Amino acid sequence: MCGIVGYVGPRDCSEVLVSALSKLEYRGYDSAGIAVFEDDKIKVAKSKGRLLDLVDKMKKEGRPCGHAGIGHTRWATHGEPSDVNSHPHSGKRVTLVHNGIIENYKEIKQFLIDNDRTFLSDTDTEVVAQLLDFYYDGNPIKTIHKVLREVRGSFALGIVFADHPGTVYATRCESPLIVGQGLGECFIASDVPAIIQYTKDYYLLEHDEIAVLKNGTVSFCDLHGRHIEKDLKTADWDPDSAEKGGYEHYMIKEIHEQPTSIKTTISPRIENGMPDLSECGITPQMLKGYRQIYIVACGTAMHAGMVGKYVIEKLARVPVIVDIASEFRYREPLINEDDLVIIISQSGETADSKAALELSKELGAKTLAIVNGKGSSIARAAEMVIYTHAGPEIAVASTKAYMVQISVMYLLAFEMAYANGKITEEECAKLTKSLMSTPDYIEKTIEDLIDDCQYISTKLITADSLMYIGRGLDYALSMEGSLKLKEISYIHSEAYAAGELKHGTISLITDGMPVIAVVTQNTLMEKTVSNIKEVKARGAMTIIVCDQYANIEGDVADYVIRVPQIDEILMPMVGIVPLQLLAYYTSVNRGNDVDKPRNLAKSVTVE
Ligand code: F6R
Repeated sequence: MCGIVGYVGPRDCSEVLVSALSKLEYRGYDSAGIAVFEDDKIKVAKSKGRLLDLVDKMKKEGRPCGHAGIGHTRWATHGEPSDVNSHPHSGKRVTLVHNGIIENYKEIKQFLIDNDRTFLSDTDTEVVAQLLDFYYDGNPIKTIHKVLREVRGSFALGIVFADHPGTVYATRCESPLIVGQGLGECFIASDVPAIIQYTKDYYLLEHDEIAVLKNGTVSFCDLHGRHIEKDLKTADWDPDSAEKGGYEHYMIKEIHEQPTSIKTTISPRIENGMPDLSECGITPQMLKGYRQIYIVACGTAMHAGMVGKYVIEKLARVPVIVDIASEFRYREPLINEDDLVIIISQSGETADSKAALELSKELGAKTLAIVNGKGSSIARAAEMVIYTHAGPEIAVASTKAYMVQISVMYLLAFEMAYANGKITEEECAKLTKSLMSTPDYIEKTIEDLIDDCQYISTKLITADSLMYIGRGLDYALSMEGSLKLKEISYIHSEAYAAGELKHGTISLITDGMPVIAVVTQNTLMEKTVSNIKEVKARGAMTIIVCDQYANIEGDVADYVIRVPQIDEILMPMVGIVPLQLLAYYTSVNRGNDVDKPRNLAKSVTVE
């Protein structure tokens, strides 16, 4: 879960590497480093801490000057964040950066120690650098091939050999890597945003392919050195979309981008007022007749799946099981060829979700991926893919990706329900029309609620713990609201099905403890309000999120946050907005690093 970059071209390489790494810090940010050919010698600069700490260090100690090199931003897996564990790592003649995990590094390390090699760091990465050096015979491709036959795990590598100045080699297995081609310059990167300010043209490197970047151009070969022709792709992302654009943080910018992201995601999938996934190669026939549906994902993406469960079950009347990918994959799931497995993932690279997808395919189930990362591993491995068009999501806490994931869940549910004959064409068209109107409501909700949420968040900042409650779709929202708050504010919180409180958890309620109750489902309102009264009677400070017309008695709520009333089934799309804003402002008010919360990384490519 790190970010790697590389550059060969006429620009100042250190500058390019630092700038590209700054777009990948979402992948990890506990240390950073670069290696650049300076006067034909590899010069390394690296530092524990954020990229800015590296920049400061280079200001004081000098930075490598040259036109070819590699860089890394780290999320520690093997060995604590420290200067010495930071990448790049070197053998005598080889220096490299690595994203991923080398599973058999202990055996290889022992083999190298037995052969008189010594190690400086605790990382698995240094083992690869030393092994490359051990086998190096002057032929980089042959040596990379030999090493790749011995290492096991997931990796993307950027490599420089001291006796091949000006050339960067790259290869990968499992972990993602793209190769950018500009005018007289070329790049490697873990993700497109890193290079988009320089070029939109890139190649997707496949498993066991090697890219050779030299004299500003790139060539590809297989492990035997045989030349490979590859298709150049063009990113449809605007370079500005990976910038803060005047906002204080990416997270708040991305919250504001939600209406546009929904429009871009759903518009191409609606024809004559009806959902139509043929643009993604999916026909109504492909969505019907399943015995059961599994939705498998992690974190926020799994919470989007919870919304999907309620909506698909309600409309299409097919049983849906939502599962956490890391549980699903080890539980011998009871699926077969009569089932559909839907994998949801922003990055398309989450290790557990990827493994869950592979397992589902092995067991014969049909697979459908809902993915934001174009050409990502999950998108490529699934039989059916619906891309969300959220653009790059940089803040670690997901907002717009969640929003487009649920908008796709709705479209899918509508089309499935219609294909299964559970709703009429008229009902389907009505629901689709309501979905198309949500971006305007969301925009208004953001504008109207910013001040309220900013104010109410000041009531949360000193809390030790809080609770989110709701029923049905509101419970699904509570889970996401709670995760959002804890990951960026560092305040403990729990999401609970409101009706379940009195079976144990209500004992946690103490005087002044904030309880955020989500009550957007009118059919369940009375029941949830009773539960709110129960916590209020035990001293809780209650904050209620409900629609603009909900009749909430004065003594039930300390604060009421009202969102527009839209079709009840679609209420999560407006209901989630205040929960995102509350989390955001609580984090800001506590002085936290909102976009880069501690201990986290955006792309979780390790188990
Ligand atoms: C939380 C968050 C994570 C991700 C999870 C899955 O804000 O973003 O919980 O949702 O790590 O990541 P993807 O969607 O990339 O598979």
